[in-house]
Amino acid sequence: MNKEAMRDLFGAQTEPWRNYKPIVTRVDDEPNSCIWDIPYTIPQLGYLTHNHFRYYGKFPSVVAGQILDDLPPASPNDYALDNFCGSGTTLVEARLRGINAFGVDVSWLSALASNTKVAEIDLKLAREISERVLAAGQSVDAIELLQDKYREKWWPQQTARVLTAFQDALLRETDSPEKDFCLTAYLAIIRRVSYAYDGEVRPHFNKDKTPREPLAALSKKINDMIGRHREFLDACEKPSIVSCIVSDNKEIPRDELPSGDCYLVISHPPYLNSFDYSPVYGQEYYWSKPFRALDDDKTRRAAELKAWPAKDKLVEDYYAGLSDCYREAYRILRPGGHLAVVIGDCTIQKKLEPVLDKCVDLIEAIGFRTEKVNYRTTHYGLGKYAYSHRADYHGEAVKRDAIIYFSKSS
Ligand SMILES: C[S@@+](CC[C@H](N)C(=O)[O-])C[C@H]1O[C@@H](n2cnc3c(N)ncnc32)[C@H](O)[C@@H]1O
Repeated sequence: MNKEAMRDLFGAQTEPWRNYKPIVTRVDDEPNSCIWDIPYTIPQLGYLTHNHFRYYGKFPSVVAGQILDDLPPASPNDYALDNFCGSGTTLVEARLRGINAFGVDVSWLSALASNTKVAEIDLKLAREISERVLAAGQSVDAIELLQDKYREKWWPQQTARVLTAFQDALLRETDSPEKDFCLTAYLAIIRRVSYAYDGEVRPHFNKDKTPREPLAALSKKINDMIGRHREFLDACEKPSIVSCIVSDNKEIPRDELPSGDCYLVISHPPYLNSFDYSPVYGQEYYWSKPFRALDDDKTRRAAELKAWPAKDKLVEDYYAGLSDCYREAYRILRPGGHLAVVIGDCTIQKKLEPVLDKCVDLIEAIGFRTEKVNYRTTHYGLGKYAYSHRADYHGEAVKRDAIIYFSKSS
């Protein structure tokens, strides 16, 4: 059945990315402000390849989509830059719209997940690789494990043998986007097959958990990813060039930037007093070590914008780090281009920290002009994702969350 016929049969359901949009209302007396309400569940917003890798602290897919719709490129060569790319939410939404996009993140894991989500994958080849990896996990009794306290804490011995067999099989494959696709699937199950709580941001030991069986978990994950990826590639009607590199966003290598003009920067920094990203992915970094020869934990940690715990020096460094990265964004953005910052207030020792206002001040000091503030209600997930469930919840103070549009003068 062709795409047109599918659409006639199922209506707009074949294009969830067009269906889910923030519900936008104006704010009385504030002509340059809106409220974005996002009344959808996390699974609803995990359509297509967004669900490939669970990234804690990502923004809802529709936030990136709405920004891209509000601020479209002027020419087909223009590209959008996401300078805190995370798991590539912006890149997926850009590719769906046929917009060129470039992601930068200090994390190797983030670049892997982002690139996998948007890559032109040969799904038949990915299936073949995954079959070799799964086959390797079927006879593991001969695998001898070295003593390792970290591994012994988090994974049952038999699970560790299977994960080692998967790892060895992946290492035998030649480098390709399809190998990375399977590597992403492998890293996506690491937490599930461990003793860590599934839903918590930083891994915490759950003594009552029976970890899932790795062969079944990987097989299910691969099947799910292949189905979603096929739908994703079908949904991308226009071609566009989309990728992510590992870099500190305070100094982005110019020779890596796409050709064309950067017309938009989308930016979603770690929220102050919430959490740092590297420790959250300690388990995935542990099992991915042989795959990331060029990534070293110390350099990454040094470059990462630290957000927690918000003590005096850290808070000072946080704002200084934001200033540096937005100065870099200003240099890359073409005149007349836009910056969209997704940011939220926090509390520090129960006292409100006005992160929004401070960000506006530091970004305006660089030369940007504030154009619009879109406040975001935070009950997406139909009330399940209220503030009390957030990692940065530390009291009752009224905190604001917003997507702020800035412009660079022409
Ligand atoms: C809030 S997350 C972004 C999530 C993203 N919007 C998504 O939907 O997946 C912030 C990201 O900033 C990255 N980061 C922190 N410091 C950075 C730096 N100096 N340069 C580039 N990326 C950085 C972290 O690794 C993390 O992935």
